[in-house]
Amino acid sequence: MHKPGIIEIQSVVINAARQAGEILSRNWGQAGRIEHKGAINLVTETDRLAEAVIINTLQAHYPDWDILAEEAGQKGNNAENRFIVDPLDGTTNYAHAYPCFCVSIASEQQGVVSLGVIYEPLLNELYTAIKGQGAYLNGKPLGVSPAKYLNDSLLVTGFPYDIREHTGNSLKYFNRLALLSQGVRRDGSAALDLCYVAAGRLDGFWELGLCPWDVAAGSLIVTEAGGSVSHIDDTGFSLTGKQILATNGLIHEELRQALQQAGKIT
Ligand code: IPD
Ligand code: CA
Ligand code: CA
Repeated sequence: MHKPGIIEIQSVVINAARQAGEILSRNWGQAGRIEHKGAINLVTETDRLAEAVIINTLQAHYPDWDILAEEAGQKGNNAENRFIVDPLDGTTNYAHAYPCFCVSIASEQQGVVSLGVIYEPLLNELYTAIKGQGAYLNGKPLGVSPAKYLNDSLLVTGFPYDIREHTGNSLKYFNRLALLSQGVRRDGSAALDLCYVAAGRLDGFWELGLCPWDVAAGSLIVTEAGGSVSHIDDTGFSLTGKQILATNGLIHEELRQALQQAGKIT
């Protein structure tokens, strides 16, 4: 049986991401019916349309792979190979016609993310990474920023959809880091936040309450661009850990400690 190489898999994933991106651009400003998955957690008809195209494309090429997709959930439960799909990261932005959203697809072999593709269709920006082979934006190598200190850094964060029920430390973190950095953005697409850290446009990103499809592709893109990814409360990182800290590496420890300190403020 033909065993696909990673480059071949990447071209299928890019094709799926571009098709989904075309749907997102075409429907932008007319997202279709909007449903609530929670008080402030939206899903549009376009989320589902884009996801269906991605799943059909991936399954046509790799029928025996598992797929974890945000709206459809997990398909399959035994394969050593899995795709992880967020068809539209930034749904709240999309539903308001705010231009900050993307498609995010990762592939995983035996639990390790091997490839990440993130496509921002309005700017036609395609972020790609293969484990051990670097990260690229539209084919050009990506590198993180040279900022050495929080004081010189532009940061970004996001807030979980259940913030009304469980504020957690999200607001404490935001309040503290707004005073310690040059600014804290809140853009509304975790996958793009990670790409912007990889591209050196931002120096660090943290967020609580994220799911595997929000961070699978982007975390690889950051590390392949030379950055660091961990949890806030320890040094490891797992897709199911529900939190992320991603930086250019140079400010990682300073930001991690600042967040930990902020979390202790009563
Ligand atoms: C959301 C975005 C947002 C983040 C949320 C995510 P979605 O994903 O990444 O930036 O703050 O926590 O759930 O719902 O737009 O795919
Ligand atoms: Ca998402
Ligand atoms: Ca989504």
